[in-house]
Amino acid sequence: YRSIRRPNPSEPPMVNYWIPFIGSMVSFGMNPVQFLQKNREIYGDYYTFLMFGRRMTYCLGVDGNNAFFNARLADANAEEAYASLTVPVFGEGVVYDVPNHMLMDQKRFAKGGLTADAFRLYVPIIVKEVEDYFARWHEPSGVGNIHEAMAQCIVNTATHCLMGREIRAMMDDTVAQLYEDMDKGFTPLNFLFPSLPLPAYRRRDRAHAKMSALFQSIIDARRASTDAPPDDMMTALMNSHYKDGRRMSDKEVGNLMIALLMAGQHTSSATTTWAILYLADRPALVEALREEQRKCLGDDLATPIAYEHLRDMRLLDAVVRETLRLRPPIVTAMRKVMRPMTVAGGKYVVPAGHYLGSSPALTQLDPTYFKEPLQFEPTRWLDNNSATADEEETAGDQVDYGFGTIKLSGARNPYLPFGAGRHRCIGESFAYVQIKTILATMLRLFDLAPGPKGFPEMDFTSLVVLPAKPAQITYRRRQ
Ligand code: HEM
Repeated sequence: YRSIRRPNPSEPPMVNYWIPFIGSMVSFGMNPVQFLQKNREIYGDYYTFLMFGRRMTYCLGVDGNNAFFNARLADANAEEAYASLTVPVFGEGVVYDVPNHMLMDQKRFAKGGLTADAFRLYVPIIVKEVEDYFARWHEPSGVGNIHEAMAQCIVNTATHCLMGREIRAMMDDTVAQLYEDMDKGFTPLNFLFPSLPLPAYRRRDRAHAKMSALFQSIIDARRASTDAPPDDMMTALMNSHYKDGRRMSDKEVGNLMIALLMAGQHTSSATTTWAILYLADRPALVEALREEQRKCLGDDLATPIAYEHLRDMRLLDAVVRETLRLRPPIVTAMRKVMRPMTVAGGKYVVPAGHYLGSSPALTQLDPTYFKEPLQFEPTRWLDNNSATADEEETAGDQVDYGFGTIKLSGARNPYLPFGAGRHRCIGESFAYVQIKTILATMLRLFDLAPGPKGFPEMDFTSLVVLPAKPAQITYRRRQ
């Protein structure tokens, strides 16, 4: 049964399905990468499938990535696709609750709090947070749940660095519970059932209101204080003005901070967890990373890791980069088509009302661009003058990795774990600082080996790709 349904010859082909309305939801949900790849072989780079009554048109391959990420604002829109998921958690007046030009302003404001000067302050904070967390792995050796550990380290370090010391001080009691309640209402379920009367949604809304009030009290206290304000994200946002001259309101400051925390939490904790799982399997690579640390820091393990050292750790950089190639936490991005949109060089028109999807995870595994694409091989990034995260963010979408003779840049780059175009991630440099600092500190604290159940499978049931439970490693404390 391979006849291709095509509701209209100018529209992309439609993936066959058996169950009306539900369509391909189950097979897509179980493993989206496999589903997209399999259907790409049948239908080509552009096709539509039905998912719970919605028509999803995917644009695949490097040209598909480009069509998606560089779509005109009037053609395809992110807020229509993401608002039901994000607005209840982030709150009003930020990100997908505002017109795109305001989001662009807000991203600019947030970048003002993610500077090299800020990172210099953050690195020692992150080291201390990780050391404090792992004090609980105090036996000489044992088995630890690495995903649980990384989720906690990332939330501690991100709240401390991004949300400020006041919020971090409340993390162990009030804020941890509020965060958990907000997070439980931030799931794929929200896409499909945004307004069911679920208890989890009620807890999410209550937690958001309390968190918002907490931010307001901190902003008020900072304003009333005669001390110089701390050099952090909250201060950067409190001093930000939109292009029309209006200052960010206090509510928007608080809500944008919640948005940044949520955007970075699962993406960064999943990436750090996968990176450690890969390292636990590769003692020679761990030794090479320790050698790199010795070169950057000297032999004395007491020398504190600083931002400047991290920048020199190119192999560590490549480990993160390769982890993001094989295990990008976000495997699919979405937009809503607002008016008929031409794709595939004029071959197809995607009707208004369809959702548009993209998955650079597929080009990241494509043998055209990556030799032995399924192998975890960080050194592939050392041979081709790849830019560091910092250089890449500065250059925006102009970066060219130079894959042999194939030069692909901007949104045609096959490697896009942080997206491209107007919605490109602003957290990349911070994520690299955070993940590299955690990994470098872990390598100082522990020798690693795989857990008793080996390397975990991928679990696609949450918003990011997580290791299936139990994600464990075996550790031995180093002297
Ligand atoms: C956007 C990935 C960490 C804040 C994105 C997008 C991707 C992504 C793929 C584009 C989404 C789209 O086009 O629909 C990642 C990964 C991370 C990470 C893989 C870590 C490994 C962070 C962190 C922050 C952050 C730490 C905040 C400090 C944002 C923001 C956007 C974004 C504000 C822009 C959304 C928009 O313009 O629509 N990220 N991200 N991300 N990310 Fe990240």
